[in-house]
Amino acid sequence: MVKVWNLVAIMLVVLLPNVSSYDRPATRKNIVMHPSSNDPLSPEQVHISLVGPDKMRISWITKHSAMPTVVYGTTSGKYEGSANGTSSSYQYLLIYRSGLINDVIVGPLKPNTVYYYKCGGQSSTQEFNFKTPPSQFPVKFAVAGDLGTTEWSKSTLDHVSKWEHDVFILPGDLSYADLLQPVWDTFGRMVQPLASKRPWMVTQGNHEVELIPVLHRQSFTAYNNRWRMPFEESGSTSNLYYSFNVVGVHVIMLGSYTDFEPGSDQYQWLEKDLKSIDRKTTPWLMAVIHAPWYNTNEAHQGEKESVDMKQSMETLLYNARVDLVFSGHVHAYERFNRVYQDKFDKCGPVYINIGDGGNKEGLAKNYRDPTPAISLFREASFGHGQLVVVNATHAQWKWQRNDDDVSVEKDSVWLTSLSADLSCQI
Ligand SMILES: *[C@@H]1O[C@H](CO)[C@@H](O)[C@H](O)[C@H]1NC(C)=O
Ligand SMILES: *[C@@H]1O[C@H](CO)[C@@H](O)[C@H](O)[C@H]1NC(C)=O
Ligand SMILES: [Fe+2]
Repeated sequence: MVKVWNLVAIMLVVLLPNVSSYDRPATRKNIVMHPSSNDPLSPEQVHISLVGPDKMRISWITKHSAMPTVVYGTTSGKYEGSANGTSSSYQYLLIYRSGLINDVIVGPLKPNTVYYYKCGGQSSTQEFNFKTPPSQFPVKFAVAGDLGTTEWSKSTLDHVSKWEHDVFILPGDLSYADLLQPVWDTFGRMVQPLASKRPWMVTQGNHEVELIPVLHRQSFTAYNNRWRMPFEESGSTSNLYYSFNVVGVHVIMLGSYTDFEPGSDQYQWLEKDLKSIDRKTTPWLMAVIHAPWYNTNEAHQGEKESVDMKQSMETLLYNARVDLVFSGHVHAYERFNRVYQDKFDKCGPVYINIGDGGNKEGLAKNYRDPTPAISLFREASFGHGQLVVVNATHAQWKWQRNDDDVSVEKDSVWLTSLSADLSCQI
């Protein structure tokens, strides 16, 4: 029997030379990570995020209450800077209480500079370091959504860590804890080697909602407590949507699972944020959502978060000449042409789905046929994206497939900013 199938497989390969020889990998199991130290004051799950033009938020967890203090400086072992912040914790059902979640903002910081820091003050034994983004082009973004905590997630992160980038962007679905709160702790430990070194700018997906009728009526409890993003700094009243600038790029992080209808807080905030953008200082404009507005995979078709949010906000983004929209949710990679209202439009954004970080649910392998003309590249494989914004007009996007643990470039395209296209100016 085995031999017959081998023969069939060989025949298929011979007869269909265009079929990729890459076998889509199976799902891998979740990993479990424990704290690396028994000391209840030892910092763990360290991650950082950008705050304003020259500050960084440092977040970490301790088992017991400690001073939310960070000491930092540009020489290892010498910490001329010191900052205090806040601690909080949250309860989930009766069975789980988080550790102390500490948040400290440090800065002003110099651009393109390595800082050494200790969480918990001078007496803490472990030193971490991060690099601030540059102040001039080029700037490099690593992008991967729907990450999870499997061996594939880890493999994807290994690949990202080998690519010298400035900022990590996650378009939603972080830990896949799915109510089991200790999985959030594993996620924090898994990402620390990267997320303590480069800012992680995230938005939330459906797996962050974690609402249980009657028993836990608050949405996004773990997400909002553990992954506080710089929303106040961009005039937002919610951690679920915000924006930030890096060099000449304005990035808008939207929330697919909170109100987005015209008149909602998010909608009004988006209108205001778009009006405040000066394309002379930030020629590049990107948006990040979780549930894709364009998607030719069979998975997640027709969901309210995709259809209604697109209906509500697509014209706002189009009129603002957004260059790029990243999304996740569908566990595959797909790149579209410039699109507006389902058709090619040279002044519309390029839509990219990159929900292929490697979570426990596996790949979304079935596509709608025939491929619509607006979909330029689609493939159900794990991987991550690399965006190099070279200068005010040019950027290069690459999709790196995770080929059984080897990172291989499979899609690459040059993009030009709509801010430089005179025929698209409003
Ligand atoms: C942080 O708090 C400690 C204790 O209250 C205080 O001694 C220290 O001066 C504060 N540091 C800063 C930078 O505010
Ligand atoms: C921007 O980068 C592209 C690609 O490297 C290059 O062709 C172009 O000349 C650059 N533009 C400027 C103004 O330097
Ligand atoms: Fe999702």
